[in-house]
This record gives sequence, C-alpha cells and structure tokens, in this order.
Amino acid sequence: MSKKLFIKTWGCQMNVYDSHKMADILASLGYETTEAPDDADLMILNTCHIREKATEKVFSDLGRLRAHKEAKAEKGEKALIAVAGCVAQAEGDVILQRAQYVDMVFGPQTYHRLPEMVLQATGDKRVVNTDFPVESKFDYLPADSQMQGPSAFLSVQEGCDKFCTFCVVPYTRGAEFSRPAEQVLDEAKRLEAQGVKEITLLGQNVNAWHGAGTDGSEWDLARLISALSDVKGIERIRYMTSHPKDMNDDLIAAHGEIAKLMPFLHLPVQSGSDRILELMNRKHTADFYIDIIERLKKARPGIALSSDFIVGFPGETDEDHAQTMALVERITYSSCYSFKYSPRPGTPGAVMKGVVPEKTKDARLHELQALLQKQQLDFNLSAVGKTVPVLFDRKGNKPGQLLGKSPWMQSVYVDANERLYGQTVDVMIEKAFQNGMSGAIVTTEETLSTPDKKRDAA
Ligand code: 5AD
Ligand code: SF4
Repeated sequence: MSKKLFIKTWGCQMNVYDSHKMADILASLGYETTEAPDDADLMILNTCHIREKATEKVFSDLGRLRAHKEAKAEKGEKALIAVAGCVAQAEGDVILQRAQYVDMVFGPQTYHRLPEMVLQATGDKRVVNTDFPVESKFDYLPADSQMQGPSAFLSVQEGCDKFCTFCVVPYTRGAEFSRPAEQVLDEAKRLEAQGVKEITLLGQNVNAWHGAGTDGSEWDLARLISALSDVKGIERIRYMTSHPKDMNDDLIAAHGEIAKLMPFLHLPVQSGSDRILELMNRKHTADFYIDIIERLKKARPGIALSSDFIVGFPGETDEDHAQTMALVERITYSSCYSFKYSPRPGTPGAVMKGVVPEKTKDARLHELQALLQKQQLDFNLSAVGKTVPVLFDRKGNKPGQLLGKSPWMQSVYVDANERLYGQTVDVMIEKAFQNGMSGAIVTTEETLSTPDKKRDAA
C-alpha cells in the first residue's frame, strides 16, 4: 500500500514550487499526496518567515498535526511531522525544543536530501538540517512527476545578496544562486511536453539571473527568456520577483522585443521616499525606479505594473509616506501588495530607532490601499468592451465556469466548456471588479468546431 503525504504551503510562489518538488522526490519513495492530514503518514509544513507571527502560525498548525499523529499512534500506526521552509531555517532549534513530537526540521536548500532524512526519521532519529550544502539542490531534484496545469512555475534563481534591512530572505534562502541555463531549458521542454502553456520564472531576485548560456557565452535573464521563447509550445513567459537595480537595458528592451514575454511586471519599490529607501538599504532612489518604469512603458506600451510596499518602516514620517503616495499616483499600478512593517528578528531593521506607532501604520496602510485598490479597479474597468486573449488555467467553483489570466495578469471568469481548459481563447470583457473581470468567449471557427458550440458561445 502506498504511503500518504500531506503538505501545507505558506508564502511565496517559490514555496509552492518547492512543495511540488518535495512531492516529486517523495513520490520516488512511494508517497502519494493527500489533502487530508489525518490520512497522512508524513505531514510537512512548508513555512514562510517573511511576515509577522509566522512562527506562532506554525506552532498552531503543529498542534493540529500532533493530534493526528497521536490518533495514528493509538491505532499502532506511525506518522511523521516535518517543518520545512524559511521558519525551519531560521528557528529550527526552537521548533525542535518546543515541539518534541516534531520529527524533522529542514531548510529550503536541503530538499534533495529528503529520502535520507525520511529514512532517518522513520528509524526514530530526529532530523535537523539547516545547512547550506555546497552542491545545488537543482542538480539532484527529480524531473517533474506531478501533473501540472497549463501554467507552471519554473525556479531559475534562489537566494539574495541585497540585504534589504527589513528582509529575512538573505538569511533563510542564502546567497544568490543562478540555475544553469541548460537545466532551465530542459525543465521548460519537459513542462511543454506535459502541456504547459505558460511559465513563470521564479527567483527571490530573478532578474539577477546570470550564467553560462548554451552557446558558451555569459547570459543574462533577457537572453535566457529569449532562448525560452524558442520552446514552441510555451506561449507565455513571466518572471518574478525582480529588484530595480538588476533591471538592465536588455531586459527592458526584451519587453518590447519578445512577444511571448507578457506585458506585466512585478517590480517592488517598497517606498517612494529616498530617505526610507536608504534606511531600507534598497540601493536605489525613487527617481531611479521611475526612470526604469518610464523606459518599460516606452518599450512595451500598455505594460501593467505591480509592486510591493511597506508602510511604517522605522523613521518613516508623514512626509515620507506622502512621497510613497505621490509615487503611486505617478506610476499607476494594475495590482500591488502592501504591508505594515513588522520587525524580523536578526535583521538590521528590527533594532532601528524611530519605531512607528501601530495606529500610524494602520492609517498609512489604509490610505495607500485605498489608492491602490482604486487604480486596480480602474485598470480592470478599462478592459470592459475589449477583447483579450485569456489562458484558461483553472476550473471555476461553479460547473461550466473557467478561470484564466489576461496577458496583464488579470483574473478572468467565463462560462465556458471545460474543453477549453488549457487553451488561450479571445474573451470579450463585459464586467470588471476589484480582483478580476468576467466576459464571454468570442465565437470563432475554432470555438464553434464541436457540438458544444452553444454552451461555448454562451
Ligand atoms: N515587514 C513587512 N513587509 C515585509 N516584506 C518583507 N519583509 C517584510 C517585513 N519585515 C514584504 C516586502 C517584500 C514582500 C515579499 O514582503 O514588501 O517585497
Ligand atoms: Fe529581501 Fe528582495 Fe531585498 Fe533580497 S532584494 S533582501 S529578497 S526584499
């Protein structure tokens, strides 16, 4: 009988990708994934440390997993509990001490060693592995075995050397590392063979990607994207998350030159105040960022833009906040993430003076989000009445409904035949909301080519 694996994933797309890879590697040991922890022989919490109360959330989930483990033990069955990801990396010892029932704690750079770690834990030996091994996990992780939808992540870069003073990533994910071009291209071809139509290249600092290309010359991300665009079945390419300092001329130009590179970019700025950007150690000014955006808009007219913002970083004044608001007004975003600053232990920001009161942070976040939401709604509304190509990558909750993405990363809901799942189809946008749009399939020869034509056209 096969063993069952339950994985709960928090945080960024990188963690989602890592969880797939863990499932892949454990499939080779006979583990099948399950949605139900009480069914599982191995339960993994893949954690994120980027925001407040991460550790508490992990402990609260661990309490629930412990109950499953004990219920299994009463039946004479064994279940293992593992904590992976960035909380494991940062607080592995604390977890092992506080939760004696946890069998395994391991960081993001060790997933390729899962088979030996599981073997140890099965033999009643507690495992802790928060190393940064010299070998790259990418050389050891197996080819994909999990079924992918039409849109897949592809990890090309990991770690970060930027050391923004609020951020734990350089400590939990380690130094910047670029995956070799050949490996990336091979994985893209495998995804293509599985029917994937859209790939999102992932990295904590993805636009810092560089390495020897397949022609022996040094490549940057723009060159890698160009090579990936030759993979025929891949119709759409995206990448995230980028740092303004690594947005080079070629990458900006690529947005105008490579048709498969989607007209959307997530380029976090964090603040509109040079003083705060300096305190954050972002290594760029607001004007530097605005200049990149202007050039991107020139290279690819209509490009949709997204960013991350932090309000209430230590020392942030009303004037600094006003500069963030002014920057948002000037750029006009299609969708953004915004957060209240929360100190992460071990980062320089955590001991900075000028802590901003919680109430002030709340008020600033409220004001910023109101503006960002208005911009997002306006952006979606501007598509009403237009025809946009939508790649259907999810099935809706209601039968007969498909969900997809526009090139500009908007969610689109359509009543459509399931047959169109995985296809890119023209949709006439009828309604727009804060978080998405809905519309109807534009009837063409192809969408009419089956007996289901009435439903498709509905
Ligand atoms: N407090 C608030 N937001 C943070 N982020 C990262 N660290 C912190 C922190 N300590 C946000 C940044 C980053 C996003 C992934 O999370 O905006 O770009
Ligand atoms: Fe964190 Fe991104 Fe700054 Fe690196 S560039 S330290 S990942 S916020």
